[in-house]
Amino acid sequence: MQREELQRIKEEALKELETLKDPIQLENFRVKFLGKKGKITQALRGLKELSLEERRELGSELNQLKEYLEFEIEKKRREILLSEEEKILDLDLTLPGRRPFLGGLHPLTQVIEEVCEVFTRLGFEIVTGPEIESEYYNFTALNIPEWHPARDMQATFYLQNGALLRTHTSPIQIRTMLERKPPLRIIAPGKVYRCDADVRHSPMFHQIEGLMVDGEVSFADLKGVLAYFAREIFGEKTKLRFRPSYFPFTEPSLEMDIGCVMCEGKGCRVCGQTGWIEILGAGMVHPEVFKAVNYDITQWQGFAFGLGIERITMLKYGIDDIRLFFDNHLYFLESFK
Ligand code: DAH
Repeated sequence: MQREELQRIKEEALKELETLKDPIQLENFRVKFLGKKGKITQALRGLKELSLEERRELGSELNQLKEYLEFEIEKKRREILLSEEEKILDLDLTLPGRRPFLGGLHPLTQVIEEVCEVFTRLGFEIVTGPEIESEYYNFTALNIPEWHPARDMQATFYLQNGALLRTHTSPIQIRTMLERKPPLRIIAPGKVYRCDADVRHSPMFHQIEGLMVDGEVSFADLKGVLAYFAREIFGEKTKLRFRPSYFPFTEPSLEMDIGCVMCEGKGCRVCGQTGWIEILGAGMVHPEVFKAVNYDITQWQGFAFGLGIERITMLKYGIDDIRLFFDNHLYFLESFK
């Protein structure tokens, strides 16, 4: 192998490279020069017969040529492929690609985060509890007696050995009070379960529980906190109404209504023609509940509240069927991105 021979191969290759127009020609070219028996491969093999100095010089030049050709072949291959595809698809392949699909948070997650954020601003700390509960935490410690309708087999999913799926987030109140000492301010979001299913009820839904215990906590504090929450979530101008109510774990108890967001108080199907919609239950912590967690009722006072996330999300966004939250159709979920 001589310098002139190398030169000849090089010129031949570079000249031929220019003329290649389709993948078959390209492949033939590759085989002719770079294949196992190709001219360059052979020439590289022939190097071993040369002196060390020649080997070095010609070897490096041959390798450069080899790399150059490999690169050019690949480049040409792409050019040819692209132009063929363009012809077939009648597409402009220089157009930018499709944007990747971006996910988003579920509307319920968004509202949970928003509500928690409002209460965190007021100094409430986020805590959680187990979804599988005992009758004691879910009912007994909350002053819900044996005969209370909430214990009905119809509504509660009972598991083995007296365990059950919590029917509300209120047991988290008990767990937190047993674990910590007052004063405390907690907010507890979570899944709850009841045997119920229609356009307004789902067997699994979400609640947020709130609890504040301190030396002096009044009914006025409770109303102030709830009013602040409602206006942050539904808007400054939201009309509010507090109604007396009953819960076994609070005394006195109340329910808070907001002016119907659909008809603005005129009366419609959603508010049952009353102009008002109930959004939460609340009250002052019942002495029996404090007794169950060994809090001295002469020293501590507190309020508690519980709200349903689905309900608030439905009102906030005008959604009329709770099942939409759990069907997970993309057209529904995407509208909350
Ligand atoms: N646990 C109640 C329910 O599921 C909601 C509730 C009402 C929670 C009043 C409270 C409360 O903490 O004080 O219907």
